Amino acid sequence: MKTLILAAGKGTRMKSKYPKVMHKVMGIPMLNWVIDRANEVSEDVGVVLGHGIEMVKEIVPNNIKIFEQIGMKGTGHAVMAAEEFLEGDNTLILYGDVPLISNKTLNNLLSKHKNEDNDATLLTIKLKNPFGYGRVIRENNKFKKIVEHKDANEKELIINEINTGIAIYKTEKLREALKKINTNNAQGEYYLTDTFLYFNKVGIFETNDEFEVSGINDRVQLSIIENEARKRHLKNLMKSGVTIIDPSSTYIDYGVKIGQDTIIHPQTYIYGKTIIGNECEIGPMTRVKDCTIMNNVKVLRSECEGAEIYNDVSVGPFTRLRTGAVLKSKVKIGNFVEIKKSTLEEGVKAGHLTYLGDAHIGEKTNIGAGTITCNYDGKNKFKTSIGKNAFIGSNASLVAPVKIGENVITAAGSVITEDVPDNSLAFGRARQIVKKDWVLKKMKGE
Ligand code: UD1
Ligand code: CA
Repeated sequence: MKTLILAAGKGTRMKSKYPKVMHKVMGIPMLNWVIDRANEVSEDVGVVLGHGIEMVKEIVPNNIKIFEQIGMKGTGHAVMAAEEFLEGDNTLILYGDVPLISNKTLNNLLSKHKNEDNDATLLTIKLKNPFGYGRVIRENNKFKKIVEHKDANEKELIINEINTGIAIYKTEKLREALKKINTNNAQGEYYLTDTFLYFNKVGIFETNDEFEVSGINDRVQLSIIENEARKRHLKNLMKSGVTIIDPSSTYIDYGVKIGQDTIIHPQTYIYGKTIIGNECEIGPMTRVKDCTIMNNVKVLRSECEGAEIYNDVSVGPFTRLRTGAVLKSKVKIGNFVEIKKSTLEEGVKAGHLTYLGDAHIGEKTNIGAGTITCNYDGKNKFKTSIGKNAFIGSNASLVAPVKIGENVITAAGSVITEDVPDNSLAFGRARQIVKKDWVLKKMKGE
């Protein structure tokens, strides 16, 4: 089976400079949700684009064929734009703005289509409020035709079974019918639904899952779909062995993977391509984006983006990990520590008030409170490297480029501007001067 996704519409009601299908549901553009399902059920996928084609093209994967519809003259016209794609046995039509359709429903639709040997099999649903949709007219319980809302008479408008737009067609029958449809209707469009007038055998598969077939037309509907998608996704995660303490305050993108016995605490946001292993605790009040986190990691009240975290690491509270932060096993990062593009080898500790940028820190080194890598001179970035088992005293400024050897101790408050060889003690601060009785003398006016 081939799948053709219609996505040429503009989506005027979104009030956006971006085409509707680019708007995201749980971090994934609507169109990509549909493409993913299409890829699951068919071997060849095409998409019809029109409005904003140059922008939308950018989010369409390479293996998907793109057809351009010029002049938006209706759903039938959109399919005509992909005429060369219409070959082989069956063609499934999906809409780019109906993102939550499941492969289970599509497979059921296909089974019915094949078992009944239909010319076309239509996915329908009964809605409390069918306003705006095409109505499915039955006669003796069998399919008769589809009437668009704008073309429907009073009797037809009462019918609450609607056309979801999703249907599987015998490709040859679809091709033939497309040649026969015209624009003699209320909207002056080529209705894809009119092809059904020319099929001998039409089957109906009725679903009761409204969200699966809901189209998105404006941002209110977008948020309703987003919320439902999120609920379903969190439920699936819980069923797969992840504890989510408070789903109502937890936001996890669809692409995120989380292992068994990991606990997600309230007010936690996990986005993008994040992967989290087993037995971790994330949150409360944490935002994680595009991170790889292995097993038994704790991240408390922190902000992490583009970081790689190995086993048994503890992060936070109030830590900020930025792109390129690599924390090897058993690293401990504490409050008000920012790490960017730096690797901390196994067992490194940076407990408090520290900035590490463009640095490499050797095993088991301890970074004292207030340590700053001065990695930027206003023009260029420079590297700091610290060997293993070093002890960086509190409130150090490490002026890069600088190399600090293994087993080194730097005195608290030092400004380290020169390399320090292994096993050395380095001071980089003014000597303290004590003037005895200076205060008393000042008071006496001496
Ligand atoms: C269509 C159906 C209607 C059904 C409804 C379900 C027709 C004539 N009507 O209504 O029976 O109840 O969907 O949502 O098919 N598109 C294009 N090119 C076009 C027009 C539309 O690519 O020229 C795409 C849109 O981007 C969208 C999809 O087709 O993804 C549906 O278009 P839309 O205008 O929302 O459908 P309706 O005409 O309202
Ligand atoms: Ca329309």
